Amino acid sequence: MKKVGLKDIEVINKKVLVRVDFNVPLNDKSEITDDKRIISALPTIKYLLENNAAIILLSHLGRPKGKIIPEMSLKPVAIRLTELLQKKVKMMKDCIGNDIKNEIEKMNSGDVILLENTRFHPEEKKNDPEFAKQLANLGEVYINDAFGTAHRAHASNVGIANYLPSAVGFLIEKEIRYLGELLSNPERPFTAVLGGVKVSGKIELINNLLDKADNILIGGAMMFTFLKAEGFSVGKSLIEIGKLELAKELLNQAKTKDVQFVLPVDAVIGKEFKNDTKFKTVLVSEISKDWLGLDIGERTVEIFRKIILQSNTVVWNGPMGVFEMENFSAGTRGIAKAMAECPGITIVGGGDSASAIEQFGLSDKITHISTGGGASLEFLAGKELPGIAAIPDK
Ligand code: 3PG
Repeated sequence: MKKVGLKDIEVINKKVLVRVDFNVPLNDKSEITDDKRIISALPTIKYLLENNAAIILLSHLGRPKGKIIPEMSLKPVAIRLTELLQKKVKMMKDCIGNDIKNEIEKMNSGDVILLENTRFHPEEKKNDPEFAKQLANLGEVYINDAFGTAHRAHASNVGIANYLPSAVGFLIEKEIRYLGELLSNPERPFTAVLGGVKVSGKIELINNLLDKADNILIGGAMMFTFLKAEGFSVGKSLIEIGKLELAKELLNQAKTKDVQFVLPVDAVIGKEFKNDTKFKTVLVSEISKDWLGLDIGERTVEIFRKIILQSNTVVWNGPMGVFEMENFSAGTRGIAKAMAECPGITIVGGGDSASAIEQFGLSDKITHISTGGGASLEFLAGKELPGIAAIPDK
């Protein structure tokens, strides 16, 4: 269903509240270590500037639990955004209250202000209607462009839409196009590459993909739960004992639904969970009892690579191994490279796989990298995201 978009709504000379996801990583000197989320919000902000709107930006940062935590201030974001827009972005001390209202009253077309972290108020996460109304009273129009937060039902991205004419911004529109529309009717063969630690975190995603994908390739620690379910000994590898039956069930369903469910044939195993440990590559049938699996092996990379290169649509979510440790990064790197070389449409669900693609310098070779971690996982699992549902349909 199409949502009301930025171009469907009157913004000229209006005071426009824009919910963005500026939840960016900061180091201990409060420097932004990855500004991708700020850059992704620029198309919406620039469009509003071209249309002489006055822009009031809203975001959370981190999880301050309803308290003012100075290290979670959005000040560094205002500085970075000022550089990117080459235009002063005025930082506010709070996101509600009379001082903020007065400041907004004085705004002219083309002015940009950034409100302080909405999560400094406990009412934000409770989706408190009174707080949502106070936020809404600051502007005349509401745009939600915070895809990364769309799986949360909070006041600044859900409740607020009850009180103002509302639309989704260009980033959310793009995410819906790639993660939603494109994957609901993919060009085949359609392959999903899934990694990460737990099967339990990906059940709904796998279930949803079993009805859509031609191939599902499994890596990451969750491969060991599937291998164990298939009867392999996996040594000290991380498994979810309570999910073995479920893993069997998913493997059976894949057979019934004629989906090629591909498990690794080899793995890189180590003595301990650290980079600096004894390690070797073995067939999955040869994992001995005091070793643990930390990456997919090179034969598996080759098998996965071939399938990826023959696909017309590939979606990837979750690393293949502990890629943060150099000795166990080859599997994830191999898949990232195959994604980059694939001539079809390639989509990376955010979070760790997005960081991996970036770390390997391959981001510009991917059709779409989602800005959402949890949000993209839930969206790909076929769930309705509250932040999107709150915006009216066209
Ligand atoms: C994210 O980084 O996934 C979003 O900004 C949401 O943050 P949260 O998980 O703290 O709600």
